[in-house]
Amino acid sequence: MTDVIDAILNRASEPRLIAPAPDRALLDRVLACAARAPDHALLRPWRYLVIEGEGLDALGELFASAADDADQPLGADRDKLRRMPLRAPMMIVGICSPRPHPKVPEIEQMVSAGVGLGYLLLALESAGYGAMWRTGDVAYHPRIRDGLGLDPEERIAGFLYVGTVESRKPAVPRPEVADFVSRWPR
Ligand SMILES: Cc1cc2nc3c(=O)[nH]c(=O)nc-3n(C[C@H](O)[C@H](O)[C@H](O)COP(=O)(O)O)c2cc1C
Repeated sequence: MTDVIDAILNRASEPRLIAPAPDRALLDRVLACAARAPDHALLRPWRYLVIEGEGLDALGELFASAADDADQPLGADRDKLRRMPLRAPMMIVGICSPRPHPKVPEIEQMVSAGVGLGYLLLALESAGYGAMWRTGDVAYHPRIRDGLGLDPEERIAGFLYVGTVESRKPAVPRPEVADFVSRWPR
């Protein structure tokens, strides 16, 4: 097995995260991994926001402000929303920024953004940090998208919660390869 295969087979998302978060040098390196995502026509249809410290408090306020939004109330408790970003010392928001292109439909650009977030997650885990990819209603709320400075066509691909693993979660059952792979034609 190669190191990469071992790293993938041993990886797991970790929800219980504490300080410290990665430093600037490591962050630059793992974000460079995100930019290795396959990318049809090299459109670079993604960008990332790094949020730490007071930024996490501000993000909590932004989440809470959508709780009783007149058009699209989030249907969640304000305080719970406010505390959400405080589950880790760092959040990285993966954003898909689709570009109009005659041969590259939006779905391909979204997939590229997803692969980039996946590479970022793996790189963080390989460097010894914990991370967890989350979305939920907060990822799709227009007020939150606006508050984070997204353009109207941009979409949040995920919130990556990042930090040091406080305690590992129980192992997740993994499917057998034969359960999700078949040969064609049979
Ligand atoms: C696009 C996307 C969104 C997700 N959103 C959530 C979420 O909001 N809450 C959650 O508990 N898990 C969410 N997950 C799943 C976790 O990140 C994680 O993959 C899952 O708990 C399985 O754990 P594992 O990564 O160790 O296999 C999401 C995964 C993806 C790919």
